[in-house]
Amino acid sequence: MPRGPLLVQAARRESVERTPVWFMRQAGRILPEYRAIRERLTLIEISQRPEVAAEVTLQPLRRMPLDAAIMFADIMTPLIGAGVALDIVEGVGPVIERPIRDDAGVRAIRALQPDQDVPYVLETLRLVRRELEPAQALIGFAGAPFTLAAYLVEGRPSRDFVRTKSLMYGAPATWHMLMDRLAELTVSYLRAQIGAGVDAVQVFDSWVGALSPDDYAQFVQPYMRRIFTSLGSAGVPMIHFGVMTSTLLEAMATDGASVIGLDWRVPLDEGWSRIGYDLAVQGNLDPVALFAPPDVLEAKALDVLQRAGGRPGHIFNLGHGFLPGTPLDNAIRLAELVRHESARLHEHRRPLAIIA
Ligand code: CP3
Repeated sequence: MPRGPLLVQAARRESVERTPVWFMRQAGRILPEYRAIRERLTLIEISQRPEVAAEVTLQPLRRMPLDAAIMFADIMTPLIGAGVALDIVEGVGPVIERPIRDDAGVRAIRALQPDQDVPYVLETLRLVRRELEPAQALIGFAGAPFTLAAYLVEGRPSRDFVRTKSLMYGAPATWHMLMDRLAELTVSYLRAQIGAGVDAVQVFDSWVGALSPDDYAQFVQPYMRRIFTSLGSAGVPMIHFGVMTSTLLEAMATDGASVIGLDWRVPLDEGWSRIGYDLAVQGNLDPVALFAPPDVLEAKALDVLQRAGGRPGHIFNLGHGFLPGTPLDNAIRLAELVRHESARLHEHRRPLAIIA
């Protein structure tokens, strides 16, 4: 009996014969075939051409045994659709033409009408879904309001988020108006992706770890809850991911996602027990492990699987995306290793599960 994508089964904490695996930033510069396309087209051009974006989305699945494709776009893509002038600069990241620091700036972000504003994203998803096997998942995604706001306010990547937090503390009404708009934009964007056939969605709050638990609760959490509550009825697994979130995990666990993405700074077993076993987890190998000798990489990957302990509800991933310069052979080796070793661990566990 086909039970749909393995990743969806794991996200629902059903028992699976092996641990599903995919990698953040699996599509992109780690692949020479991507770099060849990038020589003729910018990142934004690729994402706006559905045939090319679909091809780039599928490239990593031809190289490695992966259980999911993640649509090729950027977290800034829907903001372009909502009228924000920006560029994605190689080696830097998103750069905003007119950073947003007042009410007028916030009002310039239009409400997103995905069919009209980002039709190419939805077309890419339809093209990719047709090419995948039923057991493979198509993951849609969006940037979370805080991480989007950090780019919009700073105007470019930042380390300390001084301008972002200054707005938050100094002009809370403007901050809340910005977060409100970004939350609405995220809901419409993800709802449209679900309509176009994605099997799961991931919300990337990459920079939320810059906040204290109190600031998270006051300035961010209401919007995360609104996003997950609004989308919950769609029945699609929702992954809530952030970096340096070890002090925020208990809060994130109450926001309504079905899966929490962990970075490598928290051991997976500890993170999972703090989140609670009623939620699934995704993660959390250090992306730098892919630069280590094969035996070290293998030991670190096995450690992640062992900490998951064969419990239903683990999706294997890195703790953050592939870094530039990651050796492709090691990425392939890792995907193969997770596939084989997790099947072996699940095999061993089965009789124990019956006794338990
Ligand atoms: O497989 C995939 O993950 C590809 C799809 C994807 C991209 N960006 C394409 C991309 C996804 C899921 C993203 C999300 C994204 N974008 C995040 C959240 C995930 C994370 O890493 O925390 C963030 C923070 C961004 C913003 C952004 N875009 C950054 C920081 C950069 C790196 C800039 C650089 O060149 O070092 C980008 C550019 C970007 N987005 C690349 C890719 C493949 C880099 C390669 C290129 O320019 O072609």
